[in-house]
Amino acid sequence: MREAPIGVFDSGVGGLSVLAEIQRLLPNESLLYVGDCGNIPYGEKTPEFIRQRCSVMADFFVAQGAKAIVVACNTATVAGVADLRRDYPHWPIVGMEPAVKPAAAATRSGVVGVLATTGTLQSAKFAALLDRFATDVQVVTQPCPGLVDLIEAGDLHSPALRALLGGYLEPLLAAGCDTIILGCTHYPFLKPLLRQLIPTDISLIDTGAAVARQLQRLLAERELLAEGPASPAQFWTSGSAQHFGNILPILWNNAGVVRSFSL
Ligand code: DGL
Repeated sequence: MREAPIGVFDSGVGGLSVLAEIQRLLPNESLLYVGDCGNIPYGEKTPEFIRQRCSVMADFFVAQGAKAIVVACNTATVAGVADLRRDYPHWPIVGMEPAVKPAAAATRSGVVGVLATTGTLQSAKFAALLDRFATDVQVVTQPCPGLVDLIEAGDLHSPALRALLGGYLEPLLAAGCDTIILGCTHYPFLKPLLRQLIPTDISLIDTGAAVARQLQRLLAERELLAEGPASPAQFWTSGSAQHFGNILPILWNNAGVVRSFSL
């Protein structure tokens, strides 16, 4: 069981930012990745729809013999991780949510910005995070429709992307944020562009590395850490396998075989 793979999924290619952190921290683990690109963006879908997709992914990873699952998507986590934990109580399940706690601890100006999907920002789970960890700071939230679609197309720095992102940053900068939370797993791929658009003293915080550490803790507790060597990562997508294969080398350092996922 130790050598069984770990299932990781996202609505698209965003979760590859998390997959990279997992591979860096846990190089002995064999990784399976599903990008549900045929149903992207989750950020504009209903929670019911996303819950259904989470359960399709979980069933797929069970069938693949996975020993753990990582929901590498903030939007899917707020909508679906509670149901997954209820339905698979004995399975290590790691979700992710915007890094409000570390951002509230890090800010010096007392103003924190959050870039995330509409679905994440509208969720009760996000409201609860703010109630719990952000009572002493001002939080400026900014939904970012359209960003994910451009990143999915492999666009990380076109003029259109720069203009869209610049517009989303404006209210955060005007409010005096010194810390910006990247609350969607697609957005870490925009860090080079973000760095060009914001002053150097603003920190960018995302949760990919923390998710990898949490996965490591859960596997260690259950004596499930692999000893290796790992098999090469395997990829599936419900969108175009050819397109996914084309952008994989841009967002993931290695090439990989991409298969169609038609569930
Ligand atoms: N990558 C996802 C997240 O972390 C969302 C992208 C989407 O809207 O599908 O929230």
